[in-house]
Amino acid sequence: MEYENSIKCKAIEAFRKKLVIISRDYKILAANQHALKDLDEKITGELCHEIFFGLTTPCKECPATEVMQSGRPAVRHFQNDTDKSEKIQCLYSYPILSKDNQTEGIVVLDFEVPTLGFLEDKLRRSNALLRNLILSSVDAVIAADISGNIFIFNDVASEISGYSVHEALTQLNIRDLYPGNVAFLVMKKLRSEEFGGKGKLKSYHVDFMRKTGKVIPISLNASIIYEGQKEVATIGFFHDLRDELKMKKELEKAQSQLLQAEKMASLGKLAAGVAHQLNNPLGGITLFTQLVLEDYDLPEKAKDDLNRILKDAQRCRDTVKELLEFARQTRQEMQAHDLNKAINRTLFLLENQTLFHNIRIDKQLAPSLPPVHGDIQQLNHLLMNIILNAAEAMEGNGTLTVKTERCEDKKRLLIAISDTGPGIPDHVRPNIFEPFFTTKEPGKGTGLGLSMVYGIVENHGGKIHTLSRPGEGTTFIIELLTAEGNNGEKPSE
Ligand SMILES: Nc1ncnc2c1ncn2[C@@H]1O[C@H](COP(=O)(O)OP(=O)(O)OP(=O)(O)O)[C@@H](O)[C@H]1O
Ligand SMILES: [Mg+2]
Repeated sequence: MEYENSIKCKAIEAFRKKLVIISRDYKILAANQHALKDLDEKITGELCHEIFFGLTTPCKECPATEVMQSGRPAVRHFQNDTDKSEKIQCLYSYPILSKDNQTEGIVVLDFEVPTLGFLEDKLRRSNALLRNLILSSVDAVIAADISGNIFIFNDVASEISGYSVHEALTQLNIRDLYPGNVAFLVMKKLRSEEFGGKGKLKSYHVDFMRKTGKVIPISLNASIIYEGQKEVATIGFFHDLRDELKMKKELEKAQSQLLQAEKMASLGKLAAGVAHQLNNPLGGITLFTQLVLEDYDLPEKAKDDLNRILKDAQRCRDTVKELLEFARQTRQEMQAHDLNKAINRTLFLLENQTLFHNIRIDKQLAPSLPPVHGDIQQLNHLLMNIILNAAEAMEGNGTLTVKTERCEDKKRLLIAISDTGPGIPDHVRPNIFEPFFTTKEPGKGTGLGLSMVYGIVENHGGKIHTLSRPGEGTTFIIELLTAEGNNGEKPSE
C-alpha cells in the first residue's frame, strides 16, 4: 500500500504538464513540480486563482467550477494572448470523489494544444513541400485514380510525353500513355506478388507512348494506393531510358571497334611474320632458277619460262621486302626520308590489290624533292590510310592522283592525294578525323584511319586539310617539314 502510494506520487511528479489539486473552495491541496516551477513551494492552502493568475475571484473559464457543479470532468480551451506561438491553452478538470460520491477535491490539468490554424498552416506547408518534391523529381511522376483519370502530372511527365500538364489533368487517361494492352499488363503486374510485392512494381522496363504516337523505353517504379483493402489510385515514377540505352549502344560499338582495331593490328603482325617466312624459299627459287639458266644448255622456250619464274620470284621478293619495311615495328625515329620513295612503295604494295585493278594511278611526283623529316613507319601508315580511303570512296573505279611539291621556302613539302569519288558530304566533314567515326557499315571500317593520320601529322609538326565537294571527289593536302626545315639531315636509305 505504501509502495502503491509512493509510486502514484512519483507518477504525478513525472507528469510533464501542470497538475494542481484544489478543494471545493479553490484552495490548493497539492501541485506537482511542473506546476510549481517558479513558485514558492509552500502554496498548499493558498487560493488557486490568486497564486496562478493574481485574481481575487476564481477565473471565469475555470473548468473546476463546472466540475464542482456537475460532478463530471470538464474541459476549457482559451487562447494565450501573450504567446504568439499559435497554441491554445487547455484546462482539463475532473473530480476526486469520496466513497459516498462527494467531491473531495478537483484535479486541474493545464496543457497546451496547437491551434487548428497552426495545424492547417503546417498541413499547407507540408502539402507545398510534397508538391515541390513531386514537381522537382528528375523522373516523370504520374498519379491516376482507379478509372485512369490523372491527378498528378509533373513537368518531366509533360516533357517525356509531349502533353501539357493542363491537357493531362483534364483530358488524358493514363491508358493513353501506353501502347496496345501495356496499361493492362502493368496493372496485372502491379497486383501480382512477383515484381516487388503486391501493389508494387520495381524498375520494370516498359513502352511508353508519347503524344506523337512515338514509343519510348521507360523504367517504371509504381505502386497502388489503397484505402483499407480498396484500390483507390496508382502512382508511377517514369524514368526515360533513351539516353542510357544510347550510351550503352555507343559503348558496345566502341568495344566492337576496338576489337576490330586489335584484329587489324594482329593481322598486320601476322602478315609481317608470313612475309619473313617467305623470304628464304623465295631466295632459293631465285638462286636455283639462275643456276639452271647458267649451267644448262636449254631450249629457248624453257629459258623464257625460267626467266618468267625468275621475274615473278623477284617480284615476290620485292613485295615481301616492302611489306617488311612497311610493317617494321620500331620506336619512333625521326629521320630524313625520300618522300617520293615512300609514296612509290605504298603504291607498289597497293596497286596489285583487287580494289585497285580499275583505278588509274596518276603520279605527279616532283623531281629532286628535298627529304622530308619524319618517322618512315608513320609516314607509310599515313599514305596507306589516305590512299585506301580514296580507293574505297571510288569503289575501285576512277582516278587516284598523288602529287608532291616543295614550298618556296624549302622548309615544307606538300602531298596532295585526290580521288574522283563521291566527295565528303558537308555534315560528315567535321567528324572525319574523330576516332571511331566511320560511315562504313559495321565490320567494314573502324573509323581509326584518319584519326591516326591526324595524330601522325601533328606528331610531325605538319598540317592536313581536305578539299571536297559532294560529287566532285576529294583531295587531302598534307604539309610536312623538310629535313632542312627541321635541322638539315640527309635522307636515310
Ligand atoms: N576520300 C574520301 N572520300 C569520301 N569520304 C571519305 C574519304 N576519306 C575518308 N572519308 C570519310 O571519312 C570517314 C572516316 O575515315 P577513316 O579512314 O577515319 O575511317 P574508315 O575509312 O571509315 O575506317 P578505317 O579506316 O578504320 O577502316 C570514312 O568513313 C568516310 O566517310
Ligand atoms: Mg579509312
